[in-house]
Amino acid sequence: MISALDRLRALRTRPYNFLSRSQSSEGAQLASSVLDDLFRDRRLPSFAELAEIVTNPHALSGFHDWCQRTRRFTLWTREAIDELATYLRERGFTRVVEIGAGRGDLAWYLSGAGVDVVATDAGPRMLEAFTLPQYRSLPVEMWENVRWLDWRAALSSLDPDCVLCSWMPPDEDWTPGLRSAESVKEFVLFWELRGTTGGKSAFQRRTEWLARDIVTVEDWLIGRTDEGVVGFGVTQYTKATAFRRAEP
Ligand SMILES: C[S@@+](CC[C@H](N)C(=O)[O-])C[C@H]1O[C@@H](n2cnc3c(N)ncnc32)[C@H](O)[C@@H]1O
Repeated sequence: MISALDRLRALRTRPYNFLSRSQSSEGAQLASSVLDDLFRDRRLPSFAELAEIVTNPHALSGFHDWCQRTRRFTLWTREAIDELATYLRERGFTRVVEIGAGRGDLAWYLSGAGVDVVATDAGPRMLEAFTLPQYRSLPVEMWENVRWLDWRAALSSLDPDCVLCSWMPPDEDWTPGLRSAESVKEFVLFWELRGTTGGKSAFQRRTEWLARDIVTVEDWLIGRTDEGVVGFGVTQYTKATAFRRAEP
């Protein structure tokens, strides 16, 4: 039997007709099935595996839809996790905490790469809401590594020296709390260049906090709003920016 991936590859060789409902629904169904396979049993795909989907015009709408249904925002890849683990290890942090962790996948994969991260989130009822209205009744998957904690409680009770936060809720800025938490030496935000995650204020440059894009990680990230073209690659909108407390 021909696999969904092979069928998607075959579709890719054919022109994409935006007006053909049957063609686009076939591509969307195949994309969804391939993505389920790529992430099955908490598998971590490579950048190339995801790029193949995002640059296939037949698969793109299915990719966006799958991210909405499964509440995925940044899609972690093997390369991005390896680079982020190296970055965190080199800085010698001892208490890394993720806030608003959603499914818990980032912390899970980092722990697998040898960097212990405590994942926290307000809980599945809250995560459920972060999708299109038609998908809000679909169940969310929150892994057992996630502690159900409001981000403020996570900062005060876990005393982190480094905080990770991916896709802060739209137009909510948690960074004043991060900056005022005395234990926090650095926080890393994963965010969408054109979007509303964290609002605008979260990314303003401040003299007391040195901002630096972690390009070694960004190069390997794929976000739920990314798109791509065969032969040109993925247009990546997801950023990884570290904010480090300036030494007095
Ligand atoms: C846009 S989602 C991002 C999820 C995850 N970080 C990711 O990138 O896949 C925002 C997350 O923030 C969580 N959240 C919202 N308000 C929160 C709060 N007050 N304290 C902790 N988590 C919260 C939601 O449950 C949701 O998981």
